[in-house]
Amino acid sequence: MLPEAASSYAPAVDRVFWVIFGLSAFFFLLIVAFLVYFVLRYRNNREVLPAFESVHLEIAWTVIPFVLVIGIFYLGWKAFVIQRAVPEQAFELQVNARQWLWEFRTPDGQVSVNRVVIPADTPVKVILSSSDVIHSFYVPAFRMKMDAVPGRYTYAWFEAKPGTYTVLCAEYCGAAHSRMLATLEVVPKEEYEKRKQPSAVPAAATSRDPVAWGRELYETKGCNACHSLDGTPGVGPSLKGLFGHEVRLQDGRVVKADENYIRRSILDPTADVVEGFNPVMPPFAGLLSEEEINALIAFIKSLQ
Ligand code: CUA
Repeated sequence: MLPEAASSYAPAVDRVFWVIFGLSAFFFLLIVAFLVYFVLRYRNNREVLPAFESVHLEIAWTVIPFVLVIGIFYLGWKAFVIQRAVPEQAFELQVNARQWLWEFRTPDGQVSVNRVVIPADTPVKVILSSSDVIHSFYVPAFRMKMDAVPGRYTYAWFEAKPGTYTVLCAEYCGAAHSRMLATLEVVPKEEYEKRKQPSAVPAAATSRDPVAWGRELYETKGCNACHSLDGTPGVGPSLKGLFGHEVRLQDGRVVKADENYIRRSILDPTADVVEGFNPVMPPFAGLLSEEEINALIAFIKSLQ
């Protein structure tokens, strides 16, 4: 019934959930049962019942809920303290949220968007910041959620089993909020060390079909949150049939959508805002390599 419990403290959080759920279900059924019973039992009763007092009853319904509530507090407090106390020497993952994507920076300086590889069975401290509005970094499988607030850092941590997990934004942050998704790929430590070697990446990257690579980037870098491929305008204009056509801009200029236009629109989106749209796209300068930009342009060219 609950999502897979993939972090070290997920069982503690689930325990609190089940205890509260169990107590709520028990009292709900108990109260409804009495309610139905009394409605039937006294349905024709017109007489006024004599006042009834019982000190024992009063003590019972004060002390029992008190004990239950303190018990819930205790379990919740224990689970909360684990989540706030970051183990020393944790792997530090910097996460910056912006409308509408997640930027990740690992300790070895690798920057990626909407997808990051991290080592398993290692405490990972997530340091959150935001470039614009309040977002919330939410990983259901880890039972972890923390707001990303502009102008300050917030943090959370987890230690996860190997697997692929979805990050959601849990704070309504604008038009493409629901599509602000990222993927955490948690791999065994040895595999993480191997993958970290950057030597293998460029060779694999340059030998790839640029259109297919561009399509993959379109999905993994979050372009798909705002730009459709079927001509439907979203938060941003559709990419269908864009290349080679003229585009009317907000300031009245008309420009041709060539390689330079697309490149500039990716790196510095507010330079040429298309008529009818708002300047809300984040700049991707520094987040994409030249090869990646070329692949995206090849992909956009293919959408005729
Ligand atoms: Cu970011 Cu909702």
